[in-house]
Amino acid sequence: MIGVYLSGTGNTRHCITKLLSLLDPDASLIPIESRDAAEQIRNEDTIFLAYPTQFSNIPFMIRDFINTNCSIWEGKKVFCLTTMGAFSGDGTGCAARLLKKYNADVIGGLQVHMPDAVCDNKMLKKPLEENKRIVREADKKLEAVAKDILENGKYPREGLGEIAHVAGLFGQRLWFYNKTTDYSRKLKISDDCIGCGMCVKNCPMGNLSIKDGKAVSANKCAMCYRCISSCPKQAVTLLGKKVYEQCRYEKYADVI
Ligand SMILES: Cc1cc2nc3c(=O)[nH]c(=O)nc-3n(C[C@H](O)[C@H](O)[C@H](O)COP(=O)(O)O)c2cc1C
Repeated sequence: MIGVYLSGTGNTRHCITKLLSLLDPDASLIPIESRDAAEQIRNEDTIFLAYPTQFSNIPFMIRDFINTNCSIWEGKKVFCLTTMGAFSGDGTGCAARLLKKYNADVIGGLQVHMPDAVCDNKMLKKPLEENKRIVREADKKLEAVAKDILENGKYPREGLGEIAHVAGLFGQRLWFYNKTTDYSRKLKISDDCIGCGMCVKNCPMGNLSIKDGKAVSANKCAMCYRCISSCPKQAVTLLGKKVYEQCRYEKYADVI
């Protein structure tokens, strides 16, 4: 068993780490950007694939990875785990349908509510206490799911059915389809950038570089918000124009 994940602000990394630590403490965890992620999947029978919902859809980076490595999924047992800020309809179903196309056996799906990573949109900002409560609830849910799998062999199937498909499609995905059909070119870096290279180091796509002492973005942003939430000058934005409060899982976890 292995966990393969994309995580921008740490929510998904936390959820997959917690779930797998309860199911199989020996399971390895691999960020999707690792050079050998595909090779590791090829060598395992059961894969836990985890990613944040983006616009009720799979992040393009995950879609691209699944499609590029289409031969590795044949006959694999895959469990899809997604995290979401509010609503995802069929966040897990989006990857599940694609994986089935490549003959994977999708054994379950889990959609976990976590703090919203979009920190440059004021409307999505929640008070610290609320985010801590959300994380506590998520942990309880993950513990209950692990117990049910271990004791009853029962895997949840959240987001995999037809009703969830319709909810995800009409609830959000149809209106935002164009946002997830490719990597984004819209990352903005303000003059506040000091060229420290933190964003370059953190980007899972290698999309950022330093030029003339300032960070510059190419056109392959995965919209994970890792650079935005780690910039010491809050100089990076994507969907909004100003960072209200950087999001990082660790900020919400100190009560646990
Ligand atoms: C570009 C973008 C789009 C998002 N779209 C949705 C969405 O449609 N529905 C939702 O509930 N959360 C949405 N979110 C929130 C994230 O799914 C959520 O915060 C997730 O837990 C972040 O996980 P991470 O820290 O592992 O990246 C979005 C976040 C980003 C960055």
